[in-house]
Amino acid sequence: MTKGKATNIVWHPGAVTRADREQLNGHRGCTVWLTGLSGSGKSTIAVALEKDLCARGVRSYILDGDNIRHGLNKNLGFSPADRTENIRRIGEVAKLFTDAGLVALTAFISPYRADRDQVRAIMQAGDFIEVFVDCPVETCEQRDVKGLYKKARAGEIPEFTGISAPYEAPLQPELTIRTGDQAVEASVAQILGLLEERGIVARG
Ligand code: ADX
Repeated sequence: MTKGKATNIVWHPGAVTRADREQLNGHRGCTVWLTGLSGSGKSTIAVALEKDLCARGVRSYILDGDNIRHGLNKNLGFSPADRTENIRRIGEVAKLFTDAGLVALTAFISPYRADRDQVRAIMQAGDFIEVFVDCPVETCEQRDVKGLYKKARAGEIPEFTGISAPYEAPLQPELTIRTGDQAVEASVAQILGLLEERGIVARG
């Protein structure tokens, strides 16, 4: 394998447009980008939201940090550079899904503001919906669903977000969800409300 940037590549346009695909699907495509600490509820919300969207006839697909790191991004760790590359790749995949006319739901910590802003920058205006899953680190640590905070406190996981690695909260997210004091259904309803407002899904 040769390293470096490919040259002599030319974009090959298709004969079917995004508008054609969206017409076929009966709704617009977009990316709902969930960002927040480990254990804040991103994956739980994504799973419940996907179920509701499916019931409404909306085609969606979840891209989840823990899952994607088993395949596409299995060669990446948690150094700042690897996290940046993780988010860059997922941003590109989410962009493709959006172009396919799907509602892409991404659940990644995505701790760096610059990385999330970069994903926003490669998408068309209005396609990137940043949702801050806001939960105090103390609450995430109390829940400790995967037992990772305990390990991080014991020094067994270096660079653990919220403990020994930073999390940069969004400054102007499209939506903030406070999962410390509300049920999953309420969080899902908040996101569905925004998608309805933006004309991405029909009012339920
Ligand atoms: S990100 O920072 O690059 O966006 P991503 O969302 O893909 O992270 O993966 C986070 C998941 O990996 C966490 O939910 C947790 O289960 C696991 N994990 C393992 N090591 C770490 C770590 N050092 N920091 C954060 N999460 C970790």
